[in-house]
Amino acid sequence: MFQVILNAFRAAGEETRLRLLVLLAQGEITVTELTQILGQSQPRVSRHLKVLAEAGLVKRYREGAWMFYRLSKTASVLEVLDPLLAALQEDQEELLVADRIALDAVRRARADQAAAYFAENAAQWDRLRQLHLPESNIEQAMLSLVGEEPIEHFVDLGTGTGRMLTVFKNQYDKATGFDVSRDMLAIARTNIDEAGLTSAQIRYADLYEVPLDSASVDLVCIHQVLHFLPDPAKGFARAATLLKPGGRLIAVDFDAHDHELLRDSFAHRRLGFADAEIQSWCEETGMSLSKTETLAPENPDQDKLTVKIWLCQKPSTPAQTQLSKEN
Ligand SMILES: C[S@@+](CC[C@H](N)C(=O)[O-])C[C@H]1O[C@@H](n2cnc3c(N)ncnc32)[C@H](O)[C@@H]1O
Repeated sequence: MFQVILNAFRAAGEETRLRLLVLLAQGEITVTELTQILGQSQPRVSRHLKVLAEAGLVKRYREGAWMFYRLSKTASVLEVLDPLLAALQEDQEELLVADRIALDAVRRARADQAAAYFAENAAQWDRLRQLHLPESNIEQAMLSLVGEEPIEHFVDLGTGTGRMLTVFKNQYDKATGFDVSRDMLAIARTNIDEAGLTSAQIRYADLYEVPLDSASVDLVCIHQVLHFLPDPAKGFARAATLLKPGGRLIAVDFDAHDHELLRDSFAHRRLGFADAEIQSWCEETGMSLSKTETLAPENPDQDKLTVKIWLCQKPSTPAQTQLSKEN
């Protein structure tokens, strides 16, 4: 432990590297974005990140042409660093204030890019979504995985045109769909009115900050949303906090792929997700990954991707939550 702490402090004890740690404590960021924020060259930033990675403080992963970095969650040394990094997020040191402003600008640019895409495509979304997915098979598989268990409150994060509110309409007592695209929400409202879904409502809210009590929801759905998010792990964690003990999260997204084009033409940030990544998010949020289903396209061609359904569950008692976090 002595050597681990010593190496970690040596790595963190340099101006740029400490700034990088403070930034990464706020979520995953690509190396290009870090370069923009710090105003330093990419080779220089990459060198500093390499030192942090070697000390076990940050994790990197390449996905297509993009290299992502995030704070390592497993390093025990972070328990020591976490409170320091949290304090530095409030610190008024000029460099850190400038970094916060630059990070905000980068995040706004990301959000604006996705928002522009959805504003432009809201009217044709129900047609567009079918281009990539064998839609009815997926919906059927989701219903089978969720089964007959009663659902008092169903929440759909990134509800778009509200399709999931219709798919699960026979399962819930009440449902709420949240989205940040007013264009999508306008269509969702029409759709739920036309379907006569009086127990469902639509709300404008960012999924990271949905205005609901923690532990108040039986089933959270996050269908084809994670790959658009600047910080999908944080979105997943927010979904987990909404769940009652024993509550479930059904996440549907693409399996990890290498269609870089989807970033440029369809505003995707992540190129799908591997089971291992979802498993690690479950561990970080004290959930278990109870079922996984893979839906490969019936006639594989360049446009169709493999879809994954992950059903995750919060333990029924707080004691179980603690146990599952420790394991
Ligand atoms: C690909 S659509 C999927 C919509 C719907 N779940 C479906 O499968 O048809 C992604 C949706 O996520 C929404 N979204 C993206 N980021 C969001 C955020 N931070 N909070 C809430 N909604 C978000 C977008 O506005 C868009 O409507």
